[in-house]
Amino acid sequence: MAIVVDVLRASSTIVTALAAGYERVLCVDSVEAARRLRSPGRALAGERGCRRIEGFDLGNSPGEIAPVPGGELVLCTTNGTPAIVEAAARADRVLVGSLLNLDALTAAIPRGVDVTVVCAGTDGRFALEDAYAAGRIVALLGGARSDAALAAERLAGAYGAPLEALADSADAAVLRSTGQEADISCCARESVSLTVPVVQSVRDGIAFLCDSDGCAESEALSAREETPSQAL
Ligand code: MLT
Repeated sequence: MAIVVDVLRASSTIVTALAAGYERVLCVDSVEAARRLRSPGRALAGERGCRRIEGFDLGNSPGEIAPVPGGELVLCTTNGTPAIVEAAARADRVLVGSLLNLDALTAAIPRGVDVTVVCAGTDGRFALEDAYAAGRIVALLGGARSDAALAAERLAGAYGAPLEALADSADAAVLRSTGQEADISCCARESVSLTVPVVQSVRDGIAFLCDSDGCAESEALSAREETPSQAL
């Protein structure tokens, strides 16, 4: 089982979108793939350089997501959605983790199961906020830890509050410089959502996610390939 984390901001946006009423979030790894998916009942969301992609309905801000009566959100981000698509091709089950759903996420994982926390990072580099969230997840799950998991747990323990860790990160600096500072505190809220996104299926490079509560267990993904980088 894998948990993909992109705290600033893709995984926080996915949790928020499913909680707001979208039936499914379709994660893609390219702008072209997102554009091809445009159809009635679907909104397109995503970013490049943390800014909304031209012609898209929404950016990648959880604060932008308004309650909806259903429909699908197609999401294309620089690091988060490609990490989800990649994990979906490799792991037998993929959940999306954030601080927003920390308690619900860890409660949804059966004890004794082997879990890989995949930090999306930033352009292939370490991202502090993802390591912080991974450390929090590791601490709540308990069990045997890899050295990377142990390091993340220690890192998380060095911060008094989630906002301190997120605000320290380079990705937070980009959000501040693009006038999206409010997203940092929005994504730093802990355990405010019961939504646990799960990859339901993956087809043609599209990972279909729904809330684990609304997905039939039999529909949950079973797919595998290589191991994503930065796995803890
Ligand atoms: C990403 O997937 O790279 C991030 O979620 C970027 C962002 O904060 O919009």
